[in-house]
Amino acid sequence: MRYPPLNPRHSHLIHGADWNPDQWLERPDILDEDFALFPRAGLDHLSVGIFAWAAVQPAPDVWNFDWLDRIMDRLAAAGRFAILATPSAGKPAWLAQAHPEVQRVWEAGNRSEIGGRMNHCWTSPVFRERVAEVDHRLAERYSRHPALAMWHVSNEASGACYCELCRAEWHHWLQRKYGSLAELNRRWWTPFWSHAYSDWTQIDPKDHCLDGMWLDWRRFTSEHIAGFLGHEIAALRRHCPLVPVTSNFMGSVPDLDYWRFAPVLDVISNDAYPVYQPGEHLWIQASNDAFNFDLDRSLKGNRPWLCMESSPSTINWAGPAKLKRPGIHALEMLQNIAHGADGVCYFQWRQGRGGHEKYHGAVLGHDRDPSARVFREVQDVSTMLGKLDDVVGTPVPAEVGLIFDWESDWAIRSGSGIRERRPGLPWGQTAYQGACKDHYRGAWGNGLPVQMINGDGDPAPFTLLIAPAMYLLRPGMAERLAAWVRGGGILISTYLCGMVDEDNLVLEGGWPGQGLSEVFGVRYQEIDFLPDADRVPLAPVPANSLGWEVTVDATDVCCLLRSLGAETIASYGGEFYAGTPAITAHRYGAGTAYFIGAQLPAAELVDLYRRIADRHGLRRAIPGRLPLGVTAQVRSDGATEHVFLLNFTGIGQTIEVGPGCTNALGGPGPADGRMVLAAHGVAVLRRTTQP
Ligand code: GLA
Ligand code: ZN
Repeated sequence: MRYPPLNPRHSHLIHGADWNPDQWLERPDILDEDFALFPRAGLDHLSVGIFAWAAVQPAPDVWNFDWLDRIMDRLAAAGRFAILATPSAGKPAWLAQAHPEVQRVWEAGNRSEIGGRMNHCWTSPVFRERVAEVDHRLAERYSRHPALAMWHVSNEASGACYCELCRAEWHHWLQRKYGSLAELNRRWWTPFWSHAYSDWTQIDPKDHCLDGMWLDWRRFTSEHIAGFLGHEIAALRRHCPLVPVTSNFMGSVPDLDYWRFAPVLDVISNDAYPVYQPGEHLWIQASNDAFNFDLDRSLKGNRPWLCMESSPSTINWAGPAKLKRPGIHALEMLQNIAHGADGVCYFQWRQGRGGHEKYHGAVLGHDRDPSARVFREVQDVSTMLGKLDDVVGTPVPAEVGLIFDWESDWAIRSGSGIRERRPGLPWGQTAYQGACKDHYRGAWGNGLPVQMINGDGDPAPFTLLIAPAMYLLRPGMAERLAAWVRGGGILISTYLCGMVDEDNLVLEGGWPGQGLSEVFGVRYQEIDFLPDADRVPLAPVPANSLGWEVTVDATDVCCLLRSLGAETIASYGGEFYAGTPAITAHRYGAGTAYFIGAQLPAAELVDLYRRIADRHGLRRAIPGRLPLGVTAQVRSDGATEHVFLLNFTGIGQTIEVGPGCTNALGGPGPADGRMVLAAHGVAVLRRTTQP
């Protein structure tokens, strides 16, 4: 099985960059140099027009597409493609001045000043009309242009607007959802601090006291922004029904539910600036980014996606910016491909001479020197991508699923007590995504490819499903998972599982609720949250069914579990709950459900997942055991597989890859079934799919 290429007229992996010719229109020498150097760098796609609104519409009734016509024509003549952006993320000063209502109102109540970017209102009819007009003119002009590969709308769309227009939309959204204030008051638990509402307009999204509102405001904002993307796409589609549309995401950004965005887009694209520096924690960071990359692929159900932005060298916004060390660039770019990207692009092609990003990394620096180190590393990536045409369109064969559900994240954060001085659960801000990324790493460290679903997703395609901190249960979720385990599924969940319903109201009768206690064979009602330095030892139970023999210290959170028939794999070895279960396994129907009640250190969690994978005979990317910090990922069309070996450690590693593999990048292949990876090295092996 193979998906069509992201750009239907380009059957290779995409290699591209953001390019801002609109900053250089007075410098034909620079534009000539750009066109001379694109092929030398090996860039075939250029993202243009992202912030070019004022350049195409310098005044309300003045349009100037001449420069863009020339750019598009030159791209086509040079055999390059444009990922043509709509300019909605940054608006012209004249528009903001003439219509202050297009400017976003922030949570603090202040309206944006003229300037900046991504600071518009999502509702303003004037803004929507103006955006539709510029989009419509772009589509009318370029929809049949030979350089056009893809549309890119609303660069990094994000952030809520609190203006009167957006508040009115919010109130309508609530009316549609709840029908009556009585229903809303009941589901939001409004007797709390005398919140009962008697009029819709009283409902102020800035009030953080009601956990139900906290969730709904994020649901509304996600749908509202996705609706804005849909508005832009409709304007393009009038003239251009076929060219695919994307919008660039920002990993697992906490306040937007990308599951709600994905359906309006044809292609998922992502921006990632991981700042990989050699060191003992690199593999932890790398697996966190791998999580985001797998999420990008999963948002449209295992479909290849595009890395829209990454830095070829340094970044300008994250503290002291060390340079990207030699070799790391290829590792980072092939990591994207390993997890399903069908191309990698950079921010930015060339450093501008002015503006806030003039020192941000670029393929071509201020020295304009194509023999510079960074330029050569980009050329190396280009050479590697050129050898991987067979990878284009291939999905990832994942036997392991992972539930990633933004609503659990929001719900845990709403109860965290970290915002303001509210009572509630401590440690919450990062608890959910931390749990998801920790447990994902258990699979990553064992070369088990993963696909994400949200809580409403179908577990049927998976052998093993990881549901870290599955705090919020919407109707149907618990029943669906229970039925799937009964039928033979292997489910893993953790602390903070099954505690609230879709309205963020706590489930009564002990956790995990809604029948999940029977599935896991455990129940808990007390959670011990540990301050930073506190540790609680965990001791393996002799002769446990996983053969787990590790003594380990838990951090941050320990659920006090009571067994309802589950086997104890490890129990707490300290505190007043010493001797009670911490990690359990439970046969349920034909399946097994594991509960991991405490937060474990990374290396030991990888070891625990290795034992679970062994016990249930899960298929790994390679047969041998992976050294800590090395992962193996697979892409497959069903007949041929590409195995990506990525070494995030600072030492050379020898990996047992089994028979029948050749080196897809050229150079020495495996000898005696072993492949040698340099420090921070990467290899891509090709083999025939084993039945
Ligand atoms: C974001 C934006 C880009 C640029 C980069 C810099 O990802 O989309 O326009 O500002 O950050 O890292
Ligand atoms: Zn607004």
